[in-house]
Amino acid sequence: MTTTLRTPVAIVGAGPAGLLLAHLLDEHGIDSIVVDLRTRGEIESTIRAGILEQGTVELLDRLGEHSRARTVGHRHDGIELRFEGEGHRIDFPALTGRSAWLYPQHEVLKDLIAARVAAGQDLRFGVTVTGIDESSPERPRVLATDADGEELAIEADFVVGADGSRSVVRPSVVGSSQGGYFREYPFAWFGILCEAPPSSDELIYSNSPDGFALISQRSETVQRMYFQCDPELDPASLSEAEVWENMQKRVPGTTLIEGPIFQRDVLRFRSFVAHGMRKNQIAIIGDAAHTVPPTGAKGMNLAVADVALLHVALRALLQENDARLIDAFEERAMQRIWKAQHFSWWMTTMLHVTDDASDFDRRRQLGELRSVVESTAGQTYLAEAYTGWPLA
Ligand code: PHB
Repeated sequence: MTTTLRTPVAIVGAGPAGLLLAHLLDEHGIDSIVVDLRTRGEIESTIRAGILEQGTVELLDRLGEHSRARTVGHRHDGIELRFEGEGHRIDFPALTGRSAWLYPQHEVLKDLIAARVAAGQDLRFGVTVTGIDESSPERPRVLATDADGEELAIEADFVVGADGSRSVVRPSVVGSSQGGYFREYPFAWFGILCEAPPSSDELIYSNSPDGFALISQRSETVQRMYFQCDPELDPASLSEAEVWENMQKRVPGTTLIEGPIFQRDVLRFRSFVAHGMRKNQIAIIGDAAHTVPPTGAKGMNLAVADVALLHVALRALLQENDARLIDAFEERAMQRIWKAQHFSWWMTTMLHVTDDASDFDRRRQLGELRSVVESTAGQTYLAEAYTGWPLA
Protein backbone atom coordinates (compact mmCIF):
# COMPACT_ATOMS: atom_id res chain seq x y z
CA MET A 1 0.00 0.00 0.00
CA THR A 2 1.41 3.37 -1.05
CA THR A 3 0.12 6.53 0.61
CA THR A 4 -0.08 9.38 -1.90
CA LEU A 5 0.22 12.94 -0.63
CA ARG A 6 -0.34 16.05 -2.73
CA THR A 7 1.38 19.39 -2.21
CA PRO A 8 2.39 22.44 -4.26
CA VAL A 9 6.09 22.01 -3.39
CA ALA A 10 7.84 18.82 -2.26
CA ILE A 11 11.20 19.56 -0.65
CA VAL A 12 13.74 16.78 -0.16
CA GLY A 13 16.16 17.68 2.64
CA ALA A 14 15.61 19.49 5.95
CA GLY A 15 18.92 21.38 5.90
CA PRO A 16 19.24 25.17 5.83
CA ALA A 17 18.14 25.43 2.18
CA GLY A 18 15.09 23.16 2.38
CA LEU A 19 13.77 24.52 5.68
CA LEU A 20 14.29 28.18 4.79
CA LEU A 21 12.59 27.66 1.43
CA ALA A 22 9.61 26.05 3.18
CA HIS A 23 9.41 29.01 5.56
CA LEU A 24 9.55 31.70 2.87
CA LEU A 25 6.98 29.88 0.72
CA ASP A 26 4.69 29.53 3.74
CA GLU A 27 5.00 33.28 4.41
CA HIS A 28 3.36 33.77 1.02
CA GLY A 29 0.69 31.13 1.50
CA ILE A 30 2.36 28.29 -0.43
CA ASP A 31 2.27 24.91 1.31
CA SER A 32 5.06 22.38 1.08
CA ILE A 33 6.09 19.03 2.48
CA VAL A 34 9.68 18.66 3.69
CA VAL A 35 11.20 15.21 4.12
CA ASP A 36 14.62 14.18 5.41
CA LEU A 37 16.41 10.90 5.84
CA ARG A 38 17.84 11.88 9.22
CA THR A 39 16.14 12.20 12.59
CA ARG A 40 15.50 15.63 14.06
CA GLY A 41 18.11 14.89 16.74
CA GLU A 42 20.78 14.08 14.14
CA ILE A 43 20.04 17.24 12.16
CA GLU A 44 20.16 19.42 15.27
CA SER A 45 23.44 18.00 16.55
CA THR A 46 25.65 17.61 13.47
CA ILE A 47 28.50 20.13 13.71
CA ARG A 48 29.00 22.01 10.46
CA ALA A 49 29.82 25.55 9.34
CA GLY A 50 29.82 28.56 11.60
CA ILE A 51 29.76 31.83 9.68
CA LEU A 52 26.70 33.66 8.33
CA GLU A 53 26.83 36.48 5.83
CA GLN A 54 24.96 39.65 6.73
CA GLY A 55 22.28 38.89 4.09
CA THR A 56 21.80 35.40 5.54
CA VAL A 57 21.15 36.89 8.99
CA GLU A 58 18.70 39.39 7.47
CA LEU A 59 16.76 36.57 5.77
CA LEU A 60 16.74 34.58 9.02
CA ASP A 61 15.25 37.65 10.74
CA ARG A 62 12.07 36.66 8.92
CA LEU A 63 11.74 33.75 11.37
CA GLY A 64 10.91 36.42 13.96
CA GLU A 65 11.49 35.33 17.57
CA HIS A 66 12.67 31.93 16.32
CA SER A 67 15.92 33.31 14.90
CA ARG A 68 18.58 33.54 17.59
CA ALA A 69 21.36 34.54 15.17
CA ARG A 70 21.58 38.06 16.59
CA THR A 71 21.05 37.13 20.25
CA VAL A 72 22.99 33.87 20.66
CA GLY A 73 25.27 34.46 17.66
CA HIS A 74 28.07 37.00 17.64
CA ARG A 75 28.63 39.79 15.15
CA HIS A 76 32.16 39.74 13.75
CA ASP A 77 33.47 42.96 12.30
CA GLY A 78 36.64 41.48 10.92
CA ILE A 79 39.03 38.58 10.55
CA GLU A 80 42.77 38.32 10.94
CA LEU A 81 44.96 37.11 8.10
CA ARG A 82 48.21 35.87 9.62
CA PHE A 83 51.45 35.10 7.79
CA GLU A 84 55.18 35.42 8.49
CA GLY A 85 54.39 35.65 12.21
CA GLU A 86 52.22 38.78 11.90
CA GLY A 87 48.48 39.35 12.00
CA HIS A 88 46.69 41.72 9.60
CA ARG A 89 43.11 42.70 10.40
CA ILE A 90 40.49 43.01 7.65
CA ASP A 91 37.94 45.52 9.00
CA PHE A 92 34.59 44.60 7.41
CA PRO A 93 32.39 47.59 8.37
CA ALA A 94 35.11 50.11 7.48
CA LEU A 95 35.56 48.50 4.07
CA THR A 96 31.98 47.49 3.19
CA GLY A 97 29.57 48.74 5.88
CA ARG A 98 28.71 45.09 6.52
CA SER A 99 29.57 42.34 9.02
CA ALA A 100 29.48 38.55 9.37
CA TRP A 101 27.96 36.53 12.23
CA LEU A 102 29.38 33.54 14.03
CA TYR A 103 26.36 31.30 14.57
CA PRO A 104 26.74 27.56 14.00
CA GLN A 105 24.68 25.82 11.34
CA HIS A 106 23.07 23.36 13.77
CA GLU A 107 21.74 26.33 15.77
CA VAL A 108 20.30 27.80 12.55
CA LEU A 109 18.66 24.41 11.96
CA LYS A 110 17.16 24.35 15.47
CA ASP A 111 15.65 27.79 14.78
CA LEU A 112 14.29 26.78 11.38
CA ILE A 113 12.79 23.54 12.68
CA ALA A 114 11.22 25.33 15.66
CA ALA A 115 9.64 27.89 13.31
CA ARG A 116 8.33 25.16 10.96
CA VAL A 117 6.91 23.11 13.84
CA ALA A 118 5.29 26.20 15.40
CA ALA A 119 3.63 26.94 12.02
CA GLY A 120 2.25 23.39 11.96
CA GLN A 121 4.05 22.63 8.73
CA ASP A 122 4.39 19.14 7.25
CA LEU A 123 7.95 18.18 8.15
CA ARG A 124 8.85 14.47 8.17
CA PHE A 125 12.05 12.92 9.48
CA GLY A 126 13.43 9.42 8.85
CA VAL A 127 12.07 9.36 5.29
CA THR A 128 14.22 7.60 2.67
CA VAL A 129 13.66 8.97 -0.82
CA THR A 130 14.07 6.15 -3.34
CA GLY A 131 13.58 8.13 -6.55
CA ILE A 132 11.69 10.77 -8.49
CA ASP A 133 8.95 9.66 -10.84
CA GLU A 134 9.05 12.02 -13.82
CA SER A 135 6.63 10.08 -16.03
CA SER A 136 4.33 13.09 -15.89
CA PRO A 137 6.79 16.04 -16.11
CA GLU A 138 4.16 18.58 -15.03
CA ARG A 139 3.51 16.62 -11.81
CA PRO A 140 6.69 14.96 -10.61
CA ARG A 141 6.39 12.54 -7.68
CA VAL A 142 8.85 11.94 -4.87
CA LEU A 143 8.90 8.22 -4.07
CA ALA A 144 9.94 7.31 -0.56
CA THR A 145 9.74 4.97 2.41
CA ASP A 146 8.72 6.65 5.66
CA ALA A 147 10.10 6.11 9.17
CA ASP A 148 7.68 3.17 9.71
CA GLY A 149 8.69 1.46 6.47
CA GLU A 150 5.48 2.50 4.64
CA GLU A 151 5.66 3.45 0.95
CA LEU A 152 5.01 7.11 0.28
CA ALA A 153 4.48 9.07 -2.94
CA ILE A 154 4.43 12.89 -2.81
CA GLU A 155 2.89 14.39 -5.92
CA ALA A 156 3.82 18.04 -6.42
CA ASP A 157 3.68 20.97 -8.81
CA PHE A 158 7.37 21.41 -8.13
CA VAL A 159 10.05 19.23 -6.50
CA VAL A 160 13.13 20.77 -4.87
CA GLY A 161 16.23 18.71 -4.06
CA ALA A 162 17.90 20.35 -1.08
CA ASP A 163 19.36 17.01 -0.08
CA GLY A 164 23.06 17.67 0.19
CA SER A 165 26.13 16.60 -1.71
CA ARG A 166 24.92 13.02 -2.16
CA SER A 167 21.60 14.25 -3.56
CA VAL A 168 19.13 11.67 -4.84
CA VAL A 169 17.26 14.40 -6.74
CA ARG A 170 20.34 15.56 -8.72
CA PRO A 171 20.18 12.78 -11.38
CA SER A 172 16.67 13.96 -12.35
CA VAL A 173 18.10 17.39 -13.16
CA VAL A 174 21.52 16.64 -14.64
CA GLY A 175 21.06 13.07 -15.89
CA SER A 176 23.51 11.35 -13.53
CA SER A 177 24.63 11.54 -9.91
CA GLN A 178 28.03 12.89 -10.99
CA GLY A 179 27.07 15.43 -13.66
CA GLY A 180 29.08 18.51 -12.79
CA TYR A 181 32.40 20.35 -12.64
CA PHE A 182 34.82 19.05 -9.99
CA ARG A 183 38.01 20.01 -8.31
CA GLU A 184 39.75 17.98 -5.60
CA TYR A 185 42.40 19.39 -3.24
CA PRO A 186 45.43 17.50 -1.92
CA PHE A 187 44.71 18.40 1.71
CA ALA A 188 41.97 18.38 4.33
CA TRP A 189 41.23 20.02 7.67
CA PHE A 190 41.71 18.37 11.04
CA GLY A 191 38.87 19.98 13.01
CA ILE A 192 38.46 19.98 16.77
CA LEU A 193 35.97 21.16 19.35
CA CYS A 194 37.58 21.85 22.71
CA GLU A 195 36.61 23.16 26.11
CA ALA A 196 38.51 26.41 26.46
CA PRO A 197 37.91 30.15 26.40
CA PRO A 198 38.44 31.92 23.05
CA SER A 199 42.07 32.37 21.97
CA SER A 200 41.14 35.43 19.94
CA ASP A 201 38.17 37.83 19.62
CA GLU A 202 37.96 37.26 15.86
CA LEU A 203 38.73 34.39 13.52
CA ILE A 204 42.37 33.90 12.57
CA TYR A 205 43.17 32.52 9.11
CA SER A 206 46.84 31.62 9.30
CA ASN A 207 49.32 30.71 6.58
CA SER A 208 52.56 29.20 7.91
CA PRO A 209 55.45 27.18 6.47
CA ASP A 210 53.78 24.14 8.09
CA GLY A 211 50.43 24.82 6.44
CA PHE A 212 47.15 26.49 7.27
CA ALA A 213 45.21 26.84 10.52
CA LEU A 214 41.87 28.46 11.30
CA ILE A 215 41.15 29.58 14.84
CA SER A 216 37.38 29.87 15.10
CA GLN A 217 35.00 29.88 18.05
CA ARG A 218 31.71 28.54 19.26
CA SER A 219 31.02 30.13 22.65
CA GLU A 220 32.71 31.49 25.77
CA THR A 221 33.62 27.95 26.78
CA VAL A 222 33.84 25.95 23.54
CA GLN A 223 36.18 26.61 20.62
CA ARG A 224 36.40 25.29 17.06
CA MET A 225 39.81 25.12 15.38
CA TYR A 226 41.25 23.46 12.31
CA PHE A 227 44.68 22.70 10.90
CA GLN A 228 45.66 21.56 7.43
CA CYS A 229 46.32 17.82 7.23
CA ASP A 230 46.58 14.91 4.83
CA PRO A 231 43.12 13.77 3.64
CA GLU A 232 44.04 10.18 4.58
CA LEU A 233 44.89 11.03 8.21
CA ASP A 234 42.91 9.01 10.74
CA PRO A 235 41.46 11.55 13.23
CA ALA A 236 42.04 9.10 16.10
CA SER A 237 45.74 8.67 15.29
CA LEU A 238 46.99 11.83 17.06
CA SER A 239 47.27 12.31 20.82
CA GLU A 240 45.82 15.52 22.27
CA ALA A 241 49.36 16.82 22.74
CA GLU A 242 50.12 16.14 19.05
CA VAL A 243 46.93 17.92 17.98
CA TRP A 244 47.90 21.01 19.98
CA GLU A 245 51.46 20.89 18.71
CA ASN A 246 50.19 20.80 15.11
CA MET A 247 47.72 23.62 15.76
CA GLN A 248 50.18 25.89 17.59
CA LYS A 249 52.89 25.39 14.96
CA ARG A 250 50.60 26.77 12.26
CA VAL A 251 49.81 30.05 14.05
CA PRO A 252 53.30 31.38 14.80
CA GLY A 253 53.17 34.54 16.90
CA THR A 254 49.92 33.53 18.64
CA THR A 255 49.55 31.49 21.81
CA LEU A 256 46.44 29.35 21.76
CA ILE A 257 44.52 28.59 24.94
CA GLU A 258 44.34 24.80 25.10
CA GLY A 259 41.64 22.66 26.68
CA PRO A 260 40.20 19.14 26.54
CA ILE A 261 39.29 18.10 22.97
CA PHE A 262 35.86 16.46 22.86
CA GLN A 263 35.34 16.11 19.13
CA ARG A 264 37.69 15.66 16.19
CA ASP A 265 37.10 15.07 12.50
CA VAL A 266 38.92 15.19 9.16
CA LEU A 267 37.09 17.26 6.52
CA ARG A 268 37.94 16.61 2.90
CA PHE A 269 37.81 19.45 0.40
CA ARG A 270 35.99 19.47 -2.87
CA SER A 271 34.71 22.09 -5.24
CA PHE A 272 31.68 20.97 -7.26
CA VAL A 273 29.11 22.67 -9.46
CA ALA A 274 26.35 20.59 -11.06
CA HIS A 275 25.88 20.94 -14.79
CA GLY A 276 22.40 22.32 -14.16
CA MET A 277 19.99 23.33 -11.38
CA ARG A 278 16.60 22.87 -12.97
CA LYS A 279 14.77 20.62 -15.38
CA ASN A 280 11.03 21.04 -15.96
CA GLN A 281 9.39 21.10 -12.52
CA ILE A 282 12.44 19.95 -10.54
CA ALA A 283 15.30 22.06 -9.11
CA ILE A 284 18.34 21.37 -6.94
CA ILE A 285 19.78 23.91 -4.50
CA GLY A 286 22.48 24.15 -1.83
CA ASP A 287 25.02 21.33 -1.55
CA ALA A 288 22.94 19.23 -3.96
CA ALA A 289 23.95 21.72 -6.67
CA HIS A 290 27.37 22.92 -5.47
CA THR A 291 29.96 22.44 -2.77
CA VAL A 292 32.88 24.69 -1.86
CA PRO A 293 35.95 24.16 0.31
CA PRO A 294 35.24 25.68 3.75
CA THR A 295 38.01 28.30 3.73
CA GLY A 296 35.75 31.13 2.55
CA ALA A 297 32.79 30.11 4.78
CA LYS A 298 30.48 30.22 1.76
CA GLY A 299 28.73 26.82 1.89
CA MET A 300 25.59 27.51 3.92
CA ASN A 301 25.41 31.11 2.69
CA LEU A 302 25.35 29.97 -0.92
CA ALA A 303 22.47 27.62 -0.13
CA VAL A 304 20.57 30.55 1.37
CA ALA A 305 21.29 32.66 -1.73
CA ASP A 306 19.75 29.93 -3.92
CA VAL A 307 16.64 30.04 -1.72
CA ALA A 308 16.45 33.83 -2.00
CA LEU A 309 16.11 33.44 -5.77
CA LEU A 310 14.03 30.27 -5.87
CA HIS A 311 11.27 31.24 -3.46
CA VAL A 312 10.43 34.34 -5.51
CA ALA A 313 10.52 32.33 -8.75
CA LEU A 314 8.22 29.65 -7.30
CA ARG A 315 5.74 32.25 -6.08
CA ALA A 316 5.51 33.75 -9.57
CA LEU A 317 5.17 30.30 -11.12
CA LEU A 318 2.65 28.82 -8.70
CA GLN A 319 0.57 31.89 -7.87
CA GLU A 320 0.67 33.86 -11.12
CA ASN A 321 1.52 31.15 -13.63
CA ASP A 322 4.49 33.34 -14.64
CA ALA A 323 7.53 31.21 -15.60
CA ARG A 324 9.97 34.02 -16.38
CA LEU A 325 11.80 33.94 -13.04
CA ILE A 326 12.01 30.16 -12.85
CA ASP A 327 13.35 30.14 -16.42
CA ALA A 328 16.03 32.64 -15.35
CA PHE A 329 16.73 30.92 -12.00
CA GLU A 330 19.67 28.73 -13.00
CA GLU A 331 21.55 31.43 -14.86
CA ARG A 332 21.15 33.96 -12.05
CA ALA A 333 22.06 31.46 -9.33
CA MET A 334 25.12 30.26 -11.26
CA GLN A 335 26.58 33.78 -11.46
CA ARG A 336 26.84 33.95 -7.67
CA ILE A 337 27.85 30.29 -7.36
CA TRP A 338 30.88 30.77 -9.62
CA LYS A 339 31.88 33.97 -7.80
CA ALA A 340 31.73 32.02 -4.55
CA GLN A 341 33.62 29.12 -6.15
CA HIS A 342 36.34 31.55 -7.13
CA PHE A 343 36.47 33.16 -3.69
CA SER A 344 36.61 29.79 -1.90
CA TRP A 345 39.30 28.49 -4.27
CA TRP A 346 41.27 31.74 -3.87
CA MET A 347 41.18 31.75 -0.05
CA THR A 348 42.07 28.05 -0.07
CA THR A 349 45.04 28.26 -2.45
CA MET A 350 46.31 31.52 -0.93
CA LEU A 351 46.39 30.11 2.60
CA HIS A 352 47.29 26.41 2.29
CA VAL A 353 50.72 24.99 1.54
CA THR A 354 51.01 21.95 -0.72
CA ASP A 355 53.71 19.30 -0.31
CA ASP A 356 55.01 19.92 -3.81
CA ALA A 357 55.22 23.74 -3.45
CA SER A 358 58.56 25.06 -4.73
CA ASP A 359 60.45 27.95 -3.13
CA PHE A 360 59.07 30.09 -5.95
CA ASP A 361 55.49 29.01 -5.15
CA ARG A 362 55.97 29.76 -1.47
CA ARG A 363 57.41 33.24 -2.02
CA ARG A 364 54.76 34.04 -4.62
CA GLN A 365 52.07 33.06 -2.11
CA LEU A 366 53.45 35.45 0.49
CA GLY A 367 53.52 38.14 -2.21
CA GLU A 368 49.86 37.40 -2.87
CA LEU A 369 48.94 37.73 0.82
CA ARG A 370 50.89 40.99 1.03
CA SER A 371 49.07 42.27 -2.08
CA VAL A 372 45.80 41.78 -0.21
CA VAL A 373 46.64 43.20 3.22
CA GLU A 374 48.64 46.18 1.92
CA SER A 375 45.92 47.31 -0.49
CA THR A 376 42.52 48.79 0.37
CA ALA A 377 41.22 47.35 -2.92
CA GLY A 378 42.56 43.89 -2.03
CA GLN A 379 41.10 44.00 1.48
CA THR A 380 37.78 45.30 0.14
CA TYR A 381 37.41 42.40 -2.30
CA LEU A 382 37.93 39.96 0.56
CA ALA A 383 35.55 41.82 2.88
CA GLU A 384 32.81 42.08 0.22
CA ALA A 385 32.98 38.38 -0.56
CA TYR A 386 33.20 37.30 3.09
CA THR A 387 30.30 39.41 4.35
CA GLY A 388 28.37 38.47 1.20
CA TRP A 389 27.39 40.12 -2.06
CA PRO A 390 23.85 41.56 -2.00
CA LEU A 391 21.11 38.97 -2.22
CA ALA A 392 18.40 38.94 -4.86
C1 PHB B 1 33.78 27.35 11.61
O1 PHB B 1 33.74 28.02 12.65
O2 PHB B 1 33.42 26.16 11.59
C2 PHB B 1 34.30 27.97 10.36
C3 PHB B 1 34.50 29.33 10.31
C4 PHB B 1 35.01 29.91 9.16
C5 PHB B 1 35.32 29.12 8.06
C6 PHB B 1 35.09 27.75 8.10
C7 PHB B 1 34.58 27.17 9.26
O3 PHB B 1 35.86 29.69 6.96
